[in-house]
Formats: sequence, C-alpha cells, structure tokens
Amino acid sequence: MQYRRLGKTGLKITEISLGTMAFGRWIDEEASAGVVDRALDAGINLIDTADIYGSGMDNGNLSQIGESESILGRLLKGRRDDVILATKFTARVGPGVNDAGQSRYHLYRALENSLRRLQTDHIDLYQVHSFDPGTPLEETLRALDDLVKQGKIRYIGCSNYAAWQLAKAHGISALHGLHRFESVQPEYSLISRSIERELVPFVQSEEVGVIVYSPLGRGILTGKYRQDEAPPEDSRLAAGEKRLQTLLEANPAYALVEVLRPLAERRGWTLGQYALAWVLSRPSITSAILGASKPQHIEQGVQFAGERLTSEELDDIDTAARSIGLHI
Ligand SMILES: NC(=O)c1ccc[n+]([C@@H]2O[C@H](COP(=O)([O-])OP(=O)(O)OC[C@H]3O[C@@H](n4cnc5c(N)ncnc54)[C@H](OP(=O)(O)O)[C@@H]3O)[C@@H](O)[C@H]2O)c1
Repeated sequence: MQYRRLGKTGLKITEISLGTMAFGRWIDEEASAGVVDRALDAGINLIDTADIYGSGMDNGNLSQIGESESILGRLLKGRRDDVILATKFTARVGPGVNDAGQSRYHLYRALENSLRRLQTDHIDLYQVHSFDPGTPLEETLRALDDLVKQGKIRYIGCSNYAAWQLAKAHGISALHGLHRFESVQPEYSLISRSIERELVPFVQSEEVGVIVYSPLGRGILTGKYRQDEAPPEDSRLAAGEKRLQTLLEANPAYALVEVLRPLAERRGWTLGQYALAWVLSRPSITSAILGASKPQHIEQGVQFAGERLTSEELDDIDTAARSIGLHI
C-alpha cells in the first residue's frame, strides 16, 4: 500500500482509504468488523465516517443516525491510534433549528457527539460535509481553528465544495491567520468527473489534499448492475439507495460499463479494480475512499494498489467514454 502526502501537510495517508457509510445502514456490526479487520490487515490507514451515517439516512429517523460512528468506536477499541480517523458534520442530526449546519453552536455539539460515539478524545481530520450558505464562513473557520488549538482536531477539511467555495475559505483563513482546509472530499469516478473542470486545477495550484468518495460509482463501476435485470439481492440498489438510483438514471451508466469492460479485460483486472486504478492514476488525487460492504471488497480493491494506468490506457478510456456521448 502506497502513502501519499495530504496536500501541504506532513500527514501521509494510504492511497486507498476505507469508507464506512454502509456501517449500521446496510451492514450490521459483525459484518462491519470483518471489513475493518481486513482493511487494517491490508495496511489502510485512513477511515472515513460522518455523524449522519446510519439507517436514519434512509428512514428519516433522526435517532438512528450516528450508527456508523458508534460501531466504529467499538471496533477500534484498543487500536484507535492505528488509524487516521476522519469524520464530518453539517447534515441535520436532530429536529431543532440549530441541529444542522456550521454555526459555532452546532459545530461544538456535533464534535462532542462524534467524540463520544467514536470513543476518542480527538478527530484527526474533521470535515464540513458541504457548504453552508446559512452560516458566515468566518464563524465556522474560527470555531474549527479554536478546536484545533484545543487539540480536539488535528486537521480540517471540507467536502462537496466547489472551487470558489474553497478559494473563499482559504482567503478567510489566510486573512485571519486561521488553520485552512487541508483537504477536500468530492465525488469522483469514471461516471462522475465534474471536478476536473474547476476543482482539480484549483487544488493543484494550492496543494490541497483530495480524498475522493464513491470511486466505484457506488458499485456501478464494478459492473454488478445490468439493465433490465434485477440487482443482486445483497446490493445497495436492492436496498433502495436513492443516490445510486439517480446516478444510474442520470448517466449512460450501463453503456459506460459495457465500453469499459473490454479495457479492463485487457489488463486481466476486474472492472472495479480498473475503475479504482483510473481514479488513482489521475492527477492530484491523494486517496480514494473505497466503500466496502464485505471483506472481499477490500481484498479486490487493494490487489493492484500501486499500479497505474498508462497514458495510452487513459486516452483509450476517454475515447470510449466519448463514443457513448460523454463530454470529457
Ligand atoms: N462526502 C460525502 O458526501 C460522501 C458521499 C458518499 C460517500 N462518502 C464516503 O465515501 C465512502 C465510499 O463511498 P461509496 O460507498 O459510495 O463508494 P464506492 O467505493 O464507489 O462504492 C462502494 C460499493 O461498491 C460495491 N463494491 C465495492 N467493491 C466491490 C467489489 N469488489 N465487488 C463488487 N461490488 C463492490 C459495494 O456495493 P454493495 O454494498 O451494494 O455490494 C460497495 O458498497 C463512503 O463510505 C463514505 O465514507 C462521502
């Protein structure tokens, strides 16, 4: 497993990290334990979660969020310091008017709740889950800066930010001498390439770490779904994940999978391995957060870690994508 530096910081993270959005939502604690064990055995050193992750994301029951953090807290007992722990806040976690967003008021409470669930006294990478237009960015950045100084947070990052939002945040941090967002967590995969236009050139210029989510397009890029066929019973599509359904409907997803299959076969890799290698062969990507729901997903994901696609292969992929009408 190769390490990459997180942006301008001295922190080294593995190029494949583990996402835990499935914990408590689609898989139970026992299955989650198998995934965490295999990830740590494989040398993965960053685990990503969020205060919102849990079954409440689907059924709207706010008492059933945070299950991912709670499960992770129990599973990491005795080995907390073996991992770089990343979590996020911003989404609604309670019925109150201040139970969401990035006010100092909510941020402090969100962090304390995450620390309690994760059974730790600090978060290594604390990320805003999305841009909050309802809170002055300076308020959020000052509160995060205070928490870094208190030792409760090591680094701060953002997720689902546009380039201009990150530029604005960096400007405020520089102006007031505050810690800056050292990482951004966008969606990025062969099926979701919009960050290439604005965000990637920006992070290249400013040396920001990029930890991408859904590198396998939520499972689509493993080729497990076929048009007009029922999804595998134990899959997220069968469980009704709405974002996955939207991704399938809004894209020529099935066509993309079919043009990519022979390219992956040329390497002798599975389509998922090929899609993951593509993400890690792209410029400025620090780490891909693999969303494993089974230990074998980790095994397959790390099998060719460190291998890069050639420039010819990257060109062939772009040509294949253009052939089905995707704008690259
Ligand atoms: N910041 C954000 O807004 C945001 C949003 C989404 C995710 N995330 C983070 O990113 C992480 C990863 O996201 P993601 O789960 O959507 O990523 P992903 O890696 O694109 O998709 C993971 C899914 O792909 C399938 N899969 C993985 N390996 C496989 C294999 N070898 N064979 C067959 N199927 C395989 C599994 O589907 P099945 O479970 O259906 O088998 C798995 O749940 C999350 O856990 C979370 O930490 C962040």
